[in-house]
Amino acid sequence: MSFFGLGTRDIAIDLGTANTLVFVRGRGIVISEPSVVAIDERTGDVHAVGSEAKRMIGRTPASISAIRPLRDGVIADFEVTEAMLRYFIRKAEHRRRARPRLVMCVPSGVTEMEKRAVIDAALAAGAREVQLIEEPLAAAIGAGLPIAEPRGHMVVDVGGGTTEVAVISLGGIVVSESVRVGGYELDDAVTAWMRREHGLAIGQQTAEDIKVELGSASPMVEELEVEIRGRHLASGLPRSVQISSAEIREALAAEVAAIVDAVKETLERTPPELAADITQSGIVLAGGGVLMQGFAERIHEETGMPTTLADSPLTCVAIGSGMALEEFTAMTRGGKQVRPREAAGVR
Ligand SMILES: Nc1ncnc2c1ncn2[C@@H]1O[C@H](COP(=O)(O)OP(=O)(O)OP(=O)(O)O)[C@@H](O)[C@H]1O
Ligand SMILES: [Mg+2]
Repeated sequence: MSFFGLGTRDIAIDLGTANTLVFVRGRGIVISEPSVVAIDERTGDVHAVGSEAKRMIGRTPASISAIRPLRDGVIADFEVTEAMLRYFIRKAEHRRRARPRLVMCVPSGVTEMEKRAVIDAALAAGAREVQLIEEPLAAAIGAGLPIAEPRGHMVVDVGGGTTEVAVISLGGIVVSESVRVGGYELDDAVTAWMRREHGLAIGQQTAEDIKVELGSASPMVEELEVEIRGRHLASGLPRSVQISSAEIREALAAEVAAIVDAVKETLERTPPELAADITQSGIVLAGGGVLMQGFAERIHEETGMPTTLADSPLTCVAIGSGMALEEFTAMTRGGKQVRPREAAGVR
């Protein structure tokens, strides 16, 4: 598959467990919406996609279900993913009718079958040609790292479904680790804690709100207290309880530790020369999960490496794959065929 003669309608898509971002060549990011689809169970019709569908989670009548078609960074429901992609591609393209060429991001740890599913879903959704790029590479490009150099850089991407840790040098991934712990596991940990410690049932959205507002990976300068509303399990009635940020940090501790361990294990497996580079070039953090309070400090404390947040953690994978798309075009103008990995390395 080649990108020879890419046209202006080419698109890069960061198909994430939590959010899907669409980058159109020459225009930048045009869509950033939750990866959620509301389906009418009786007819199979798509009722809503994106933020509108996300607002319906936990609030739909029996005939409509709000579905997240991706799990752990990969496609869990093929038909719904296809419908979602078709909707986003159409929306990004306005009135254009030609089938676009796509660059799709995939986690670095995925199987051939999982890659094939992404390609097939994109083709079924209307793409003419599909090329894949590994997310850590896209994140590194989007974060502005000089990845083409013979010098090690580490990227940690904490998304909704997965955490990916990668060491990059000479435009390629040298060592990587992908663990299926991300923002959703943290939300689930909050839900389980509220149930166990307070006998309170809360919805998915409330759990995420608590995590974002109160969650932390290291002690806060000023700990917070918030009132949480849910359904009391024993009485079945609505009830509210006071929760502190210190308590939520405890609720999240095991999952946060699993993420930290993945970073440490990857450092341990990194060849010495590259490990030495990382002591200087440091660790760059991407993905929505790294926005948790005290996360960068915790990674720095546990590894001793200089640690920084990417300029825009939620968009850097999409921006990086968009930049790779521009790069493909520049390369192909000279009549040379390139693969994303090579193109990504030309900076
Ligand atoms: N301030 C914050 N604190 C903690 N978590 C946050 C914050 N902001 C966003 N998140 C979490 O980030 C996650 C979404 O991140 P992102 O959009 O990078 O995931 P994704 O790319 O869709 O997932 P994946 O890459 O795993 O497929 C959600 O779980 C969300 O709750
Ligand atoms: Mg992601």
